[in-house]
Amino acid sequence: METVLTTHLADDRYRRIDGYRGSGGYEALRKAVSMPRESIVEEVRKANLRGRGGAGFPAGVKWGFLPKDFSRPRVLVVNADEGEPGTFKDRLILTRGPHLLVEGIAITCYALAIHSAYIYIRGEYVLEARILEEAVAEAYAAGFLGKDLLGSGFDLDVTVHRGAGAYICGEETSTINSLEGKRGWPRLKPPFPASVGAFGLPTLVNNVETLADVPWIVANGGERFAALGCEKNGGTRLVGVSGPVERPGVYELPANVNLRDVIYDIAGGLRGGKPLKAVIPGGSSTPVLRAEEIDVTFDIESMAKIGTMAGTSGVIVIPEGTCMVRALSVLMNFYAHESCGQCSPCREGTGWLRKITGRIEAGEGRPGDVELILDLCDNMMGRTICALADAAAMPAQSFIWKFREEFDRHIAERKCPFGNSF
Ligand SMILES: Cc1cc2nc3c(=O)[nH]c(=O)nc-3n(C[C@H](O)[C@H](O)[C@H](O)COP(=O)(O)O)c2cc1C
Ligand code: SF4
Repeated sequence: METVLTTHLADDRYRRIDGYRGSGGYEALRKAVSMPRESIVEEVRKANLRGRGGAGFPAGVKWGFLPKDFSRPRVLVVNADEGEPGTFKDRLILTRGPHLLVEGIAITCYALAIHSAYIYIRGEYVLEARILEEAVAEAYAAGFLGKDLLGSGFDLDVTVHRGAGAYICGEETSTINSLEGKRGWPRLKPPFPASVGAFGLPTLVNNVETLADVPWIVANGGERFAALGCEKNGGTRLVGVSGPVERPGVYELPANVNLRDVIYDIAGGLRGGKPLKAVIPGGSSTPVLRAEEIDVTFDIESMAKIGTMAGTSGVIVIPEGTCMVRALSVLMNFYAHESCGQCSPCREGTGWLRKITGRIEAGEGRPGDVELILDLCDNMMGRTICALADAAAMPAQSFIWKFREEFDRHIAERKCPFGNSF
């Protein structure tokens, strides 16, 4: 299978600029600065590149939302917050192939006439931030960033900005607020970042992996990238597999890969041949699947058809013997902790979900608690400033829809039938 990113992610050889350039790195940028700007955008459109940050929005379409008049400067915000539990793919790019991202940023900025880019990296990624800063400094020194890059007459400044470890700061408008030095609260939309974003300027926000795909697209053409995937999902994706599988890790795979094959062939199946109980397919906020539902193509549309999402393609494998009430309770703890508190359905709803799932797991659940959770979810979804409320409600609903019997047993038996205790 042809790959887009793995060549530069296989080991640490490509971390430094010499290794990266030795394998063709920055040649796509050289090509890009000799192309008309509009044709770079056109290649990205043809590539069917879907945003890799979770929502899967087509990158070419998003690029087109920036205003056509160039009277105001524009900004690129690179989302390197990678906070979604079960997601660790951007980290591989940041540590092994940071120049893939830097080159992707330079091409994107050139194509869209953006002179300032900010990489917002999560606070916990201390080593990653250091590697990234080194890569940015190397790119400046080699003339790939800064004034008159590659003699093109185009100037670009790239700043690495470290977050302080809040999940909500990965939501794009919260990222922008945090970058501006404000509290990391999501903003009401509209206005959307494309018209009023960072520092009040038109802003493009893209995920690390989305931008890291851009050099390959420019080097090889959008159509070739599109052909690596399936109809509406161009290219390959980095898929992170975690849980008790034989070979957990990050794999570059085409969008039309089967989810069962990801778990059994690529990740080697469950350790010790344990049976599979459930799979959270695309990071912790995506609805859970039962073991018998995983024979499905792992692309955005196919996953939506079975009521879940490809999300950030962080596949969490759950073995038989796991208490699903406890698993949900752990997730609800996370979302309640990370809610920024601006909207009452989210602030109160996530708190209640934490409380109720916790008491059911502790053997103190009450008749009606399951219905109460479902009712809370109905009152959270689609009613808040950002999607964090949905991100908490979707797993809660799906865990109940798919594993209702476990919730009922906890309440009826007044204990965890799996012998867990908090
Ligand atoms: C609560 C929340 C957290 C998010 N965290 C991240 C994140 O850590 N990284 C990321 O790239 N996108 C994250 N997103 C999605 C971003 O808002 C945005 O859609 C994305 O960065 C756009 O990039 P893309 O179009 O390249 O996917 C998050 C969204 C929400 C609602
Ligand atoms: S939905 Fe939750 S996290 Fe998002 S803005 Fe509202 S309170 Fe904050």
